[in-house]
Amino acid sequence: MAIRPIRTMGDPVLKSKCSPVEKIDESLERLIKDMSDTMYDAPGVGLAAPQIGVNKKVIVYDIGEGLQVLLNPEILEKGEEEEGAEGCLSVPGEERAIKRASWIRVKGLDEKGNEIEKEFSGFAARVLQHEIDHLQGRLIIQKGRPLPKKEIEEE
Ligand code: NI
Repeated sequence: MAIRPIRTMGDPVLKSKCSPVEKIDESLERLIKDMSDTMYDAPGVGLAAPQIGVNKKVIVYDIGEGLQVLLNPEILEKGEEEEGAEGCLSVPGEERAIKRASWIRVKGLDEKGNEIEKEFSGFAARVLQHEIDHLQGRLIIQKGRPLPKKEIEEE
């Protein structure tokens, strides 16, 4: 179990673009384990590698179906946009109304390196787009409009 500190706004690692995962090895396994431990501890529904200081295209999420891992995610197709409230573990205390595609088709690799393609809609689509934004160095602070401050528990 290794819960790592979550980087917050102002940390340059959150602004840089991530490089793709090229090798499935032990250090990747450790990274995935640390990311999931950190996400569940927060708690959050999703986490991207730069949030623990690693510039790799790795996301983990759990939207009620157990831990999922996606490497090198790419959005292939998206549906109409809808606005919804969003917070981010790296932007504590801030909640914003952000327009996101209501469904997306994504391709990437699972933790074993198998190619996968998946469709997500509603909340799941929002979580995925949020995490994929992190891999491009984009934070919610650059999007949408602020909502009144409150305690935010989810990504
Ligand atoms: Ni976030």
